[in-house]
Amino acid sequence: MSASLFVMDVYAYYTGHTAGAARRYNRPPTRIGHYVKRLLSLLGLLFFIGTAVAQTFKPTPGMPGKDVVWIPTPNHAVEKMLDMAKVTAQDFVIDLGSGDGRNLIAAAKRGARAHGVEYNPDLVEYSRRAAAQAGVADKVTIVQGDMFAADISQATVMMLFLLPNHLNKLAPTFLKLRPGTRIVSNTYEIGGGWEPDVVEQAQPCLSWCSMVMYVVPARAAGSWRLGEDEWLWLEQRYQELFGTYRIGGVDVAIENGRLLGEEIRFTVNQVEYVGRVSGNSMSGSAKGRVSREWRATRTSE
Ligand SMILES: C[S@@+](CC[C@H](N)C(=O)[O-])C[C@H]1O[C@@H](n2cnc3c(N)ncnc32)[C@H](O)[C@@H]1O
Repeated sequence: MSASLFVMDVYAYYTGHTAGAARRYNRPPTRIGHYVKRLLSLLGLLFFIGTAVAQTFKPTPGMPGKDVVWIPTPNHAVEKMLDMAKVTAQDFVIDLGSGDGRNLIAAAKRGARAHGVEYNPDLVEYSRRAAAQAGVADKVTIVQGDMFAADISQATVMMLFLLPNHLNKLAPTFLKLRPGTRIVSNTYEIGGGWEPDVVEQAQPCLSWCSMVMYVVPARAAGSWRLGEDEWLWLEQRYQELFGTYRIGGVDVAIENGRLLGEEIRFTVNQVEYVGRVSGNSMSGSAKGRVSREWRATRTSE
């Protein structure tokens, strides 16, 4: 028996009402029935008021979350973040601390799938309704939960407005995201030595308008064999690369070593190497005093 049928039956049994499915309890009203009727009416009224309050809830800046209060990213800054990350219909955007859902809704309007994790249940309900009203409910999911426990492994874009200590705490998780994932943050940097790849201002700049973007770098550290007696030893600090290139037993320090997602660049003796890292292989072209195609295999990390 469904819950609603059960409630109807209890109502009909005690009140003597004979409507619908409860007809079989056809008996006169009792004193208990009077109270049951009142109680059920009161519950109905409370349910109605609760629904009405939820429908009229309006978030106010400064209202509590768990680790940080709700302050919305200005709408034109949201668009700036989406532009910087070049969000398309191929993307899966995640916002940790998704507030009123504006980042998710704007991303979905560009065709992306979007997922929010928000601690405040009122904001969760409000943002779900906002997504439905914007006609993007099929592209947006929002869960009530703690951002530090969220699974973000499928993100291709992160849109964030959190404080530096939260971003720093999440940094190890960000670094495990697929290389090339864009992390766009309103105002605050991840820190800990991880420098942004792009910093731009949303205009007009009144408040909260400096946007920083990080592109998750491929993991390129290790020993790479380019050819017979030709090696590259790389150390990595976030997107920066340091190391040594060896050919014919002669070692040369690499310069300007850098990763942008899977794209790798470094200079050896004024020859610029540009290529792509894919797991334990990388390949590309070298241009300068000599020009050639190159290919390398990682032999150890
Ligand atoms: C500064 S607001 C940003 C809202 C939205 N991302 C934006 O850009 O407009 C931070 C949000 O994080 C939520 N929040 C705070 N601590 C959280 C936690 N531990 N897990 C999930 N959400 C949290 C707050 O309720 C608030 O909505």
